[in-house]
Amino acid sequence: MPKVTIDGISIEVPEGTSILNAARMIGGEIVPPAMCYYTKLETSGGYCRTCMVKVVKGSEKDPRPMPKLVASCRQPVMDGLEVQNITSPEVVEARAGVVEFLLMNHPLDCPICDQAGECNLQDLGYEHGKDGTRYEFSRREFEKKDIGDKIQLHMTRCILCYRCVKVADQLCPSRVHGVMNRGDVAEISTYIEKAIDNEMSGNMIDVCPVGALTDKTFRFKSRVWFTKPVEAHRNCTKCSGNVRLWFKGEDVLRVTGRKDQWGEVKEFICNECRYDKKNVSDWVIEQPTHVDRQSVISQNHYENLKQMKLDVKKLKK
Ligand code: SF4
Ligand code: FES
Repeated sequence: MPKVTIDGISIEVPEGTSILNAARMIGGEIVPPAMCYYTKLETSGGYCRTCMVKVVKGSEKDPRPMPKLVASCRQPVMDGLEVQNITSPEVVEARAGVVEFLLMNHPLDCPICDQAGECNLQDLGYEHGKDGTRYEFSRREFEKKDIGDKIQLHMTRCILCYRCVKVADQLCPSRVHGVMNRGDVAEISTYIEKAIDNEMSGNMIDVCPVGALTDKTFRFKSRVWFTKPVEAHRNCTKCSGNVRLWFKGEDVLRVTGRKDQWGEVKEFICNECRYDKKNVSDWVIEQPTHVDRQSVISQNHYENLKQMKLDVKKLKK
């Protein structure tokens, strides 16, 4: 098995593993952020450049460094490969540049955006963003569009990661979707509206890393950090039926796929589970969701609340 070293930590990984996935096997802070790569979507990755790393040694056979930073989600490892991520000032600076670039046209409307609290770009902005922007031109803006009766597209927030296109391509029956135009006039195609009437289309909402595609049945019902996520399942003939329910009080406000620590859904779910089963009696509740992302979403969460109670006790002593 090829041995790869990332920020000084070595690991042996199966042949063909990407640098990003090798880093995920190691875990922790050395894992590059990924805004467009999605494990379960074939050919995803290579669009956003947030996962860039520096290859300082190509392999045992050819130890020459790679001349430019590479997208770690697309670059397979080779035996002896040595990579710098957070230990390279060049990578850190380049990533800040990518974030600045992504935010060039993205509105800074987190206070009114439904994705706030679970937005990968918001997290990325906090972790790598700069204080200001050098962009002096007006940001591009689009009218909001209804994509079917349950999904709203706010193209102004789209970062063109292509994940929703891949969901439409790989989970929906026919290919009637895509990105129209190129450069600063590129946008998610209106053809996608036609791809929406099928039972897996809601997964586009889950894979969208920003607030461009949102669930109309949940929009403006609650800030996500006021909800309580729990794992639940039901017998479903169309999907695994393993979902995450988002409660506010006794009410199920939203149903989504379960996401892993990288923010990717473990199993895609059908629209019946997502939109039509919002009674508690529809579900077998398993346990509270473990939220370990550093996002604001982890605030008000059960596990944190428990921790806070413990801390209060300590203080009283
Ligand atoms: S709408 Fe969302 S998922 Fe689709 S390309 Fe834009 S950012 Fe990516
Ligand atoms: S995650 Fe690698 S280029 Fe986007």
